[in-house]
Amino acid sequence: MQSDAENSPHVVPPAKPGLHGAVRRRQVDEPLEAILLVGGQGTRLRPLTIGTPKPLLPTAGVPFLAHQLAKSAQAGITRIVMATAYRAEMFADVFGDGSSFGLEIEYVQETDPLGTGGGIRNTAASLRSGPDDPVVVLNGDVLSGHDLGMQLDLHRKTDAAVTLHLVEVPDPARFGCVPTDAGGRVTAFLEKTPTPVTSQINAGCYVFTRRFIDAIPAGRVLSVERDTFPGLIAAGQLVMGYLESAYWLDVGTPEAFVRGSCDLVLGELSSSATPGQRGEALLLSSATADPSAQLSGGTVVGPGGRIGAGASVHGSVLFDGVTVGARATVTASVLGTGSRIGDGAVLNGVVIGAGAEVGAGNELRHGLRVWPGVRLDETAIRFSTDA
Ligand code: GTP
Repeated sequence: MQSDAENSPHVVPPAKPGLHGAVRRRQVDEPLEAILLVGGQGTRLRPLTIGTPKPLLPTAGVPFLAHQLAKSAQAGITRIVMATAYRAEMFADVFGDGSSFGLEIEYVQETDPLGTGGGIRNTAASLRSGPDDPVVVLNGDVLSGHDLGMQLDLHRKTDAAVTLHLVEVPDPARFGCVPTDAGGRVTAFLEKTPTPVTSQINAGCYVFTRRFIDAIPAGRVLSVERDTFPGLIAAGQLVMGYLESAYWLDVGTPEAFVRGSCDLVLGELSSSATPGQRGEALLLSSATADPSAQLSGGTVVGPGGRIGAGASVHGSVLFDGVTVGARATVTASVLGTGSRIGDGAVLNGVVIGAGAEVGAGNELRHGLRVWPGVRLDETAIRFSTDA
């Protein structure tokens, strides 16, 4: 492992040919496999995830995973093994054999969810990489602008067991943190605490040397953060941190999900999977908005959506077939498939389930979640007295 400042793998050097010394650069046509972890229930995004797994929720006009698949293909990944559990059958229906992304996709299903570590191990029989080859592992709910090629280079250069993408966040107390030594070697995985020792956190993208996937115990529920990585560190194996604080977002909460979709539409994060032009709003096929309506902040209106006269929709995600009535105001919210928002309703920071109806004059705020199919009568709920 390098430890002097100049060669520190912790610093992200510019991608100059020849800089990597003994590193064996990947050949353009060399196979490279990735495991996509998509088996979670997405509980924090309920009720949106009751019918659709989080990685398939429409995000800037396409299923969330489409952004990761496009990024993977661009980074030289040729084959994806999807580790599925929750609503497993839906993934193949959407992505098929992967050829539309220039990828080969194989689907592996856990009978019972095995957690992140167990899910990775469960794909081992489907991997084709040799024991010393790198295998990329991606959480299926992360948007990241980091340079996967550089992460792979660091992995090869240090001959690590695993190389993790780390990001620095302004509020590390909300996460478990991942300290590293001066050379970038991960020294521990620490649980959430009010006084974190570092602002570095696990960004959910790993490069494993293949044989360390085979070494994970099979058929057991395991977490990479609580079991696999601490176990490797305790055994003296080299776990490296690749620190690059490019755009990064875990879209696990409604607020983050909305933010991610809007950032893609606005062009804050570039993804070749995002349809149309970057700008204030994206109207998908057959969606219509009255000329007096205002759409802004990276809003997406899904296919068949209708936005009424004088309505204002800011920084929100509207799935397929959503109706927003005249003069309604929708901000920072997710409106599920086929939901209907009545005239003059005010929605701010809420989640509306599929097929739900919010009657005219309702005022919904502060993270409120309306379950699918629920009907709120006219002016049924207000947070203020001015109805
Ligand atoms: P929450 O329930 O809201 O915490 O979401 P989640 O179920 O997605 O869990 P979390 O965000 O911690 O998961 C991180 C990534 O691992 C996501 O891409 C999940 O789909 C995936 N994941 C979580 N649990 C499992 C599992 O048991 N099996 C597999 N294959 N993937 C999993």
